Amino acid sequence: MSQLFIAHGHRDVDPLLQVHEAMRRAAIPTWYTPPGSKDMEPDIVNEAIDNAFGMVVLVSASSIRSRAVQAQLDRALDRGLTLFPIRADNARLSKQFKIALADQLTDSLTDDGALERLVAGVKARYERRCPVISVMNLKGGVGKTTVTSQVFGAWQSRIGGRTLLIDLDPQYNLTQTFFDMDHADASAARDKSVISLFERSRLHAYDMTSPAENWTRISTEPFEPVGRDVICHDLLVGDNAPAGRFDLISGQFEISKYAFAPSQESLGVVGANFRRMIDYFRSEYDLIVFDTNPNATFLTRCALEAADRVLTPMQPDAYSLRGVKLLNQVMHEQVSDEKRPELSVLFNTVGRSEQSDFEADARNGAYDDQAGFSLSKTLLASALPRSGHLVVRSPESEELPWKQLVIHQGRGGGLKRIRQNLESIATELKSLDDA
Ligand SMILES: Nc1ncnc2c1ncn2[C@@H]1O[C@H](COP(=O)(O)OP(=O)(O)O)[C@@H](O)[C@H]1O
Ligand SMILES: [Mg+2]
Repeated sequence: MSQLFIAHGHRDVDPLLQVHEAMRRAAIPTWYTPPGSKDMEPDIVNEAIDNAFGMVVLVSASSIRSRAVQAQLDRALDRGLTLFPIRADNARLSKQFKIALADQLTDSLTDDGALERLVAGVKARYERRCPVISVMNLKGGVGKTTVTSQVFGAWQSRIGGRTLLIDLDPQYNLTQTFFDMDHADASAARDKSVISLFERSRLHAYDMTSPAENWTRISTEPFEPVGRDVICHDLLVGDNAPAGRFDLISGQFEISKYAFAPSQESLGVVGANFRRMIDYFRSEYDLIVFDTNPNATFLTRCALEAADRVLTPMQPDAYSLRGVKLLNQVMHEQVSDEKRPELSVLFNTVGRSEQSDFEADARNGAYDDQAGFSLSKTLLASALPRSGHLVVRSPESEELPWKQLVIHQGRGGGLKRIRQNLESIATELKSLDDA
């Protein structure tokens, strides 16, 4: 459940209840440590922070002195939570509070209209839709899976926010980036995988046959979404795991079955289920990213209809250009105007130092005619160079999944450069979504 975390000192009982009550009236779920209690399992508190979309910080003598609140604030900062500080008394700010909060700390709870302003700010954040980005190109091998894991791994690490990756490619290479094949297949065998976004499965009712086992039948029975703890893999696991939330709904081969669907009606239901599940997860995450298959199928349309933005990795060559051109055509032919996502194109595997002629020409609009749309206007300014650090290697079994992310890897020749590249792509994409 997506919630508002309220950080408070143990003496802030009245202001705490005041804020809680105001949020309750605005239908915003809250979480806070029970007032009066001093100690609470840090794991429980940390999990509550990781499930939160924002944190109200009651700024008081009691909270400023509290080690628990200091730790909560650190974790919130670490994972990029939106902070809503408000004064509960006139205590002098500590250095930590000053650095983290002083800029935004304008109101005191007793000020006229302060509580209403707080609720309005929190509500706007609560209702902000989480962007959905689909990484696509109708050509294989251009870097879709690499971009999905590495660029958005960098986004999660540097920009923060709860991030969900969904492996929509029946080849499930994204899943295999993080898990060995046995682990991935065992998960799919329990329907803890992407099929449970399309059809009712054993995640919804344990005594039924898996939809993955029946290729000729598509279930149109309704089902409720299951929680993230049931369907998602937490990729930031283990001691020393980076903070925040970076989850994966793993892929599987069996979603290819929709290509052989016996009826359009059943596909209509399955597609609507998928959109409903994505809408549900929008309230649980701050960013959702699809990795997709290279051929235009039913899955392509599902991804296009659910996405706000299509991110297309493209190599600086004519074959890639063709893939982008086809994708743009499909986006116009298959998706209605109001559902059509925006397109951003990212050059991948460019030369490290000098821009290739192809890239320079593309940026100057030389290929716009050939592409059939203004490719030059959709190109991101940042690009991803060719780098050995980005070459996929399969994880060892038992290896922690986040260790595959370049952004979390230690020092090494060229790593810093690549990390800066990944960060600038993430930042540029984020600024497009904020615009
Ligand atoms: N910027 C890059 N530098 C070096 N190798 C890359 C880069 N981008 C992708 N690759 C490699 O190219 C191959 C195809 O990339 P992948 O992400 O699987 O493409 P797709 O998902 O589009 O099929 C993989 O072996 C990957 O490691
Ligand atoms: Mg791929």
